[in-house]
Amino acid sequence: MTTRTEHWNKIFSTKSDPELGWYEKDVAQTTKFMDEMQTTESSTVFLPGAGTSALVDELLARGHTLILNDISDQALNTLKNRVGTSDRLRWLHHDISKPLPDDTPQAHIWIDRAVLHFLLSEEDIQGYFANLQSGISPGGYALLAEFSTTGARKCAGLKLHQYSIDEMAGRMGPAFELVMHEDYTYTNPFGDPRPYIYALFKKNGG
Ligand SMILES: C[S@@+](CC[C@H](N)C(=O)[O-])C[C@H]1O[C@@H](n2cnc3c(N)ncnc32)[C@H](O)[C@@H]1O
Repeated sequence: MTTRTEHWNKIFSTKSDPELGWYEKDVAQTTKFMDEMQTTESSTVFLPGAGTSALVDELLARGHTLILNDISDQALNTLKNRVGTSDRLRWLHHDISKPLPDDTPQAHIWIDRAVLHFLLSEEDIQGYFANLQSGISPGGYALLAEFSTTGARKCAGLKLHQYSIDEMAGRMGPAFELVMHEDYTYTNPFGDPRPYIYALFKKNGG
């Protein structure tokens, strides 16, 4: 984990939020998909690479309990300085391609914006989906927002694995049903278009 952590720590320690190539002040594209979910205020949300996202503030304002994971302890510290500590926040410094700690509670909602697409090896991708599949409670949801097959090939100086809806759905497996998906072009702070695919899945049961 050291090299990856160092890479991301360097970014988060040298750039302010608006200088990040994925900075999103308005999280409406994500909350639009949340409107399709059956949730309660007490629903737990797992963010596999929270970064310093403004989504955290929005989810807290909605009353949710959050599990904030990131490979970068620098990002988590910056986020902690902004949102503070609370018994509704659980902090996890972990590489999401590796098995989650045994005491990690299941979440009702998993929201990944621009994290999965950094995993390149088949082993890492499968490790990620194993965490996702076991980390969501029956009847829960996964929202994946990744660079699409028409998107950029690199971000944050790293190569990317671009996703089609077919690959996403295939990797989610039979326990998840596709609820809705959408191509969405995000314009980054430098004015560059970044085509994403957003896909919402619901886990069977519950
Ligand atoms: C492009 S940023 C997106 C951050 C946030 N989701 C957002 O939308 O603002 C990618 C984030 O994923 C984290 N990350 C990258 N690889 C990771 C891994 N293997 N495990 C956990 N977090 C990872 C990075 O540290 C960074 O915070």
